[in-house]
Amino acid sequence: MEKFLENKVCIITGAAQGIGKSIAERLASDGAIVYACDRAEGTMDEWAKVCSEENNTRVLPLYFDVTDTVAVKSAFMSVFKQEGRIDTLVNNAGVVFNKKIGMILRPETELMFRVNVIAVIEMVQLVSRLMARNHGGSIVNIASVTAVLGSPGQTAYSATKGAIISFTKSAAKELASLGIRVNAVAPGIIKTERFNELYEANGDKIDNRISRIALGRLGTPQDVANAVSFLASDRASYISGQIFGVDGCASI
Ligand SMILES: NC(=O)c1ccc[n+]([C@@H]2O[C@H](COP(=O)([O-])OP(=O)(O)OC[C@H]3O[C@@H](n4cnc5c(N)ncnc54)[C@H](O)[C@@H]3O)[C@@H](O)[C@H]2O)c1
Repeated sequence: MEKFLENKVCIITGAAQGIGKSIAERLASDGAIVYACDRAEGTMDEWAKVCSEENNTRVLPLYFDVTDTVAVKSAFMSVFKQEGRIDTLVNNAGVVFNKKIGMILRPETELMFRVNVIAVIEMVQLVSRLMARNHGGSIVNIASVTAVLGSPGQTAYSATKGAIISFTKSAAKELASLGIRVNAVAPGIIKTERFNELYEANGDKIDNRISRIALGRLGTPQDVANAVSFLASDRASYISGQIFGVDGCASI
């Protein structure tokens, strides 16, 4: 199988579980050198070793909170010093509080904006300066179909993802002259650990939403990872500023 990301240096945030873990595994299987980032110290060590061996590449865990500007800078600079370049950043780390508009608390809204939006903007600021030193790179932000379809019970969360879509389009235009492509992937309902928790609480409502997915099934983390792999690679060299729905045709 052709290794579309051979030796590309890729940073993925929120890689300890769910979609981020699948993205890390997919990029490693495509030959990338993967820096898998998450916040809880030690949680990815064993998996990173196995993933490196299985894919004959390097998967390296990095532990920091994406809202900690100093820690982010130190982590990105250490990758840049070690590898001499950063080719891809996947902004996947995200938090969600599934609460109706009347129930959501200000600290919850603020946390979602800090992690899902402000941290992404700051990481793109930082990585774009580093990518520019090596004539470009690819940034992939993980948005959500809720940003365009709307989702009751996810009002504040969907607003953060809407912000990411707007940011992606403007950043793509601004960074194009530096050879940096910026795209977003907007997943539909993806069967992750988080989905299982949500399903336990809202089974009937979710069955109803699944019935509106034209392709007739939930998405898998691998479906999202496949799209990210494509956008990270040179196969997408003429694609920037785009929002890729990975939602089983739920958005139309
Ligand atoms: N699962 C879905 O159905 C779905 C649908 C649309 C979009 N998304 C988006 O995809 C992304 C991944 O979703 P998931 O379902 O895999 O989520 P998840 O909760 O299973 O995993 C998110 C990861 O991000 C990490 N993280 C959270 N806050 C962090 C912080 N401050 N610093 C560092 N790491 C942090 C968590 O530790 C966790 O490992 C998120 O951006 C989410 O909004 C998910």
